[in-house]
Formats: sequence, C-alpha cells, structure tokens
Amino acid sequence: MKTIDFDKKAFIRTLFTWFEHNKRDLPWRKTYSPYHVWISEMMLQQTQMERGIQYFNRWIRTFQCPNDIANASLEKVLQLWEGLGYYSRAKNIYQSARIIRDEYNGIIPCDEEKIKRLAGIGDYTLCALMGIAFEKDYATIDANVERVFARLFNCTEKNLKKAIKPLVEELLPKGEARTYNQALMELGALVCKKNPLCDTCPLLSYCESKKLSLEKERPLPKEKKAVIPVLASYCIITDTEQNELIRQRLQQKLWNTMWEFLGIDNILVDAELTPMEQKQLARQSLLIELADFFNIPQTEMEKNITKEASCIRSNYTNHALTAYFFRWQLTTEQEQRIKKQVQEIKGFCWTADSANYAMPSHHRKAHNKYHKKETLC
Ligand code: ADE
Repeated sequence: MKTIDFDKKAFIRTLFTWFEHNKRDLPWRKTYSPYHVWISEMMLQQTQMERGIQYFNRWIRTFQCPNDIANASLEKVLQLWEGLGYYSRAKNIYQSARIIRDEYNGIIPCDEEKIKRLAGIGDYTLCALMGIAFEKDYATIDANVERVFARLFNCTEKNLKKAIKPLVEELLPKGEARTYNQALMELGALVCKKNPLCDTCPLLSYCESKKLSLEKERPLPKEKKAVIPVLASYCIITDTEQNELIRQRLQQKLWNTMWEFLGIDNILVDAELTPMEQKQLARQSLLIELADFFNIPQTEMEKNITKEASCIRSNYTNHALTAYFFRWQLTTEQEQRIKKQVQEIKGFCWTADSANYAMPSHHRKAHNKYHKKETLC
C-alpha cells in the first residue's frame, strides 16, 4: 500500500495552475451540464477525443436534453451512435432517458442511488456525473488517471485501479472534484501519455517512476486477450431502381436491431488462407447461402454475384473482422421474384437511403465505398 508523503495542497495548486493554462476547450466543458457530461463520458469510453467531439456535437444538435432522446425512436438514437460501437451503450442511454423523463421530470438527479438505477451506469460514469457534473467528492478514474498515478507512485499492481483508488481519493480536495478530475484526465491525455512528455510535466518532481527512470515501463502492460480472426461475406443486392435490400438483425447477440446487407457473419475457416483464397471462400460461402435462401440453383447464383468485392477490415472487442461485400444487380425478372419472396419476411426493407437505418460500421463503410461517400467513423 503506497502512502502520500508530500504536501498535498502544493501538489493540487501545481496541478490546477497547469490545468488552468492548458485545458482544451471541449464542448461539454462550457457548462458542465449533467446531460452533457453523461453523453460525453459515454462516448469517450470508446473513442478518441477528436471523433468524440464530432459525435457529441451532432448528438446535442439533435437531442438537446434527455427528454428529446426519450421521445425519439430507438432507431434514431442508434443512427446517431452508429460508428461508435458498443451499441448496448446507446440502448442504455435510450432506456435511461426514458427513466429520467418518466420518473425524474426530465432532469438527471444528483443522487447516487437514483443514478445507479439508470441503465448501464457503471462506477466510472457514476463518479463522472457525481464528481464532474455535480461537483460532489467523487474521484473519476479512467485510463488517463490510471497512467498518471501508476507513474507518480510507481505502481506495479495487476489491479491498478484498485491500487490507485485510495491515493486518488486522498488527494481529492473537498468541493473541487470537477477541476481535480478534469485536470488529472487532461494531464494524462496531453502530457503523461503512453510516450510521456516529462519535460513539460508540472508534476515531474513528484514522479516516483521518473526518479527511477521507469516512466516508460509504467503502467505495466495489461495482459492482452488473444485476437480471434473472423471472416464474413455479404451481398449488396440492388433492384432495377437502385434500391438496396437490407434486413434488420433480430435476436442477435451482436449489433442487435441494426440493419445490414444479406450474408454470413462468421465463415468457418480451418486453414491459413492467402487473401485470394479468403476472398474465394467468402464468395463461395455467400453464393451457397443466397442460393439456399432464395431457392435458386447455385450455378445460377454463381452468375449473379460479382467477382469483385470491397474488403472491409475492422475490430470489435477482441475480434479482427475481415468482411467482403459483393454485389448482385437484379434483373427485372429476378426483382419480381425476390420482392415477392422477401415481402413476407419481417425486418426486410428496400431502400435508396440507408442513412436512415443504423448499420454496423463495416456495412456502412462498404455502402459508402460503393457510393463513394465519406463515413463518419
Ligand atoms: N476522457 C474521458 N473523459 C474525459 C473528460 N471528461 N475530459 C477529458 N478527457 C476525457
């Protein structure tokens, strides 16, 4: 257990002065409204600052308060979240907004128990709301703060958060949680980065790991989960008026309720493949799937699907996804037959404007590549 053997007030004065002169002008820092803090923290848990700002500004233009979210459709909420990943967060925001509207008059309550009862609020978001928005004495520990404290106190514990929590809390000056939490995060983001800029660090004289020349070895690297490769294959099917066929993912663990092109999420790969072999396997698996789905002979399906494909690579949790997107331009005769087949099935839709439908980012990227549009993700 580490102890603090320096003048805490002098430490805080140094940190606060640095923050006053160096803080970034971030949109949620204008008023620190609980709503803005909540949304920004939910977004920043999974994205870089620059992208987070883009998403935040667009979100706030659409939903000015929790009631705006609660009164919108889940579809609209997912659409504005699209590209950020971890879609359960967007669904939790939606569910929370409804609780805030129905039980708290549209206002986020300054009450730990009530905040905990909202959907998807973990320790971090609770502390961010209580500390940063409501200025109560709660310490907010994110990866930035972990890095700063691991270096300041030369911590090597496996459970770093648990090890530093008492130290972060002991240094928190009563009534100043907002500035304290923000200053520590900012220092981690701008100075005490992965590659630390110690020459410009206001806390250099306090830093144990710097004294031992171990600043680059702290924090210790986290054990990495093995990366699982996933191969997927989809088809952008277009009718004679250039509407595209999409379907909604229902009762799925991943990307549930989002929209996608038809295809297969996870093709069994039992050998090392060259990129060419991978693409062939993706195409072959897709045509078997579609031939079966539409009840068309495989030999005919072979002629329908393009040989060329867009290849989109992306990562989610510990999976490395390679997704191929082929195309199938329907003939008039095929169009009539296929439209008849899918009109009976729930969750299928023909659209010329898929921007109105939330899609997993690999589908959106493939769509935008096909239409030569930019993707906000
Ligand atoms: N990263 C996550 N939350 C942040 C915040 N509130 N300020 C700066 N960086 C952050």
